[in-house]
Amino acid sequence: MLNFQYYNPTNYVFGKGQIEQLTKLVPAGAKVMLAYGGGSIFKNGIHQQVTEALKGFEIVEFSGIEPNPHFETLMKAVAIIKEQKIDFILAVGGGSVIDGVKFISGAVNYEGDPAEILRKRILITDVSKVIPFGTVLTLPATGSEMNSGAVVTIAETQEKLAFGGSALFPKFSICDPTVIESLPKRQLQNGVVDAYTHVLEQYLTYVHEGFLQDRIAEGILHTLIEIGPKVVDNPSDYALASNFMWSCTMALNGLIQKGVPNDWATHMIGHELTAMYGIDHARTLAVVGPNLYRALFDTKKDKLAQYGRRIFNLNGTDEEVAHEAIEQTVAFFHTMGMQTKLSDYVKDYDHTATTIAKRFEDRGWLGLGERQNVTLEKVKEIVEMSY
Ligand code: NZQ
Ligand code: ZN
Repeated sequence: MLNFQYYNPTNYVFGKGQIEQLTKLVPAGAKVMLAYGGGSIFKNGIHQQVTEALKGFEIVEFSGIEPNPHFETLMKAVAIIKEQKIDFILAVGGGSVIDGVKFISGAVNYEGDPAEILRKRILITDVSKVIPFGTVLTLPATGSEMNSGAVVTIAETQEKLAFGGSALFPKFSICDPTVIESLPKRQLQNGVVDAYTHVLEQYLTYVHEGFLQDRIAEGILHTLIEIGPKVVDNPSDYALASNFMWSCTMALNGLIQKGVPNDWATHMIGHELTAMYGIDHARTLAVVGPNLYRALFDTKKDKLAQYGRRIFNLNGTDEEVAHEAIEQTVAFFHTMGMQTKLSDYVKDYDHTATTIAKRFEDRGWLGLGERQNVTLEKVKEIVEMSY
C-alpha cells in the first residue's frame, strides 16, 4: 500500500430533521452569507428551514449560483463579502453551490488575480486566509460536502477547472436525506452515476495492495447498483434516500483514494464536454468512462476482471470478464437513464476530440491517469470513440 495522510476535519451531520442543528453549528455572532442556487430551496421549504434555524444571526443572501458555477458570478459574492465584512458562509445546495462557496472562501483574501486559483491550480492551504463555511446538502452526488476540492467554470473562455486544498473542507455539512424528495428524476440519476464513477476513478486502475480500499469501493458500487434504480422512482423512501446520500459522500470524501493509485482522466475529459456543450456533469462521465476503459484496456484489464467478478458475478477468462464488465457498466448507466454517446447530446461534434486534445496540450496535461498513459493521442481516441 502507498503511504498516505488522511485528513478530513468536516463535521458530517447526518439525518432527518438535522437542519435545525444550524443554530448550534454556525459560530455564535457570525455575520453569515447564505449562498444558494436558482431557487429550488424556496419550492421545497429548505430556505424556510434554514432561515428559521438561523434566527438571530445577521444574514446576507446571495442567490443565483448556477449549475457548473461561474467564476464571474462567484466574484460578485467575493465583492459583497469584502464590502460587508461577512465572516461565515453557508452553502445551501448541490455540488455547484458548495463548489462555488469553496471558491468564494478561498478568493476573498487571495493576493493576486483569483482566476489564478483556477488556471494555476493554486492549492488553498492556509486556514487563516479563507472564509470558513458550512453546507446544507440538497443533492447527493459530488461528495463536495465532505471534501476539499471544487470545480469552477470561467464562462468567458469556457474553461472548467478543478482546484482545492486542505483549507477548503466545510466546517460542517448537514446531510438530511429527506431533501432529495424534491429532486427531478434527471438529477437523481445524475447523482447515482456521478458517485459510481467517482468510485471507478479510484478503483478501476491496476491490481494493488489496497485490499481494504478495494472492498470498501466495491461495497459502495454494490450499494449504488442496488438502490440507484429504486431511489430514482421512490426518493421519499428514507432507507433508499439515506443510503444514497451516504454512498455519494463515501465515494468522494477521500477515504477510498488513500494509499491506492487514482485515475481521474474520465473527469478531466468530461469537464471539457460540460464546458463546451453544457452537458450535465454525470452524463459526460457516462459518455467518456466506458470508452476510456476500452481505450486503456491493456493496462486496466486485470482490475476490470476483478471488478467484473466481484461486482457483476461474471465468469470466464480475465479478458472475457474484463470486456463484459465494461458492457455491464454501460448497461447500468442505461438503466440509470444515461445516454452514452456524444451524438445523443450534440449535433456538431466532429471537432471535439482535437479541441480537447489542444486544450490539454496548452495546459501541459500530456499524460493523465494512474499510469500517466492517457496521452494526447489517447484523449483524442477516447473522445472519437465517444461520438
Ligand atoms: O439551483 P437550484 O435552483 O437549487 O437547482 C439545482 C440545480 O438546477 C437543482 N437542485 C439541487 N438540489 C435540489 C434541486 N432541485 C430540487 N430539489 C433539490 N433538493 O439541481 C440542479 C443541479 O445542481 P448542481 O449543484 O449543479 O448538481 P450537482 O450536485 O450534480 O453538482 C455538479 C457540479 O459539481 C461538480 C461538477 O463538475 C458540477 O460543476 N463536481 C464537484 C466535485 C467535488 N467538489 O468534489 C466532484 C464532482 O466530480 C464534480 O466534478
Ligand atoms: Zn464527478
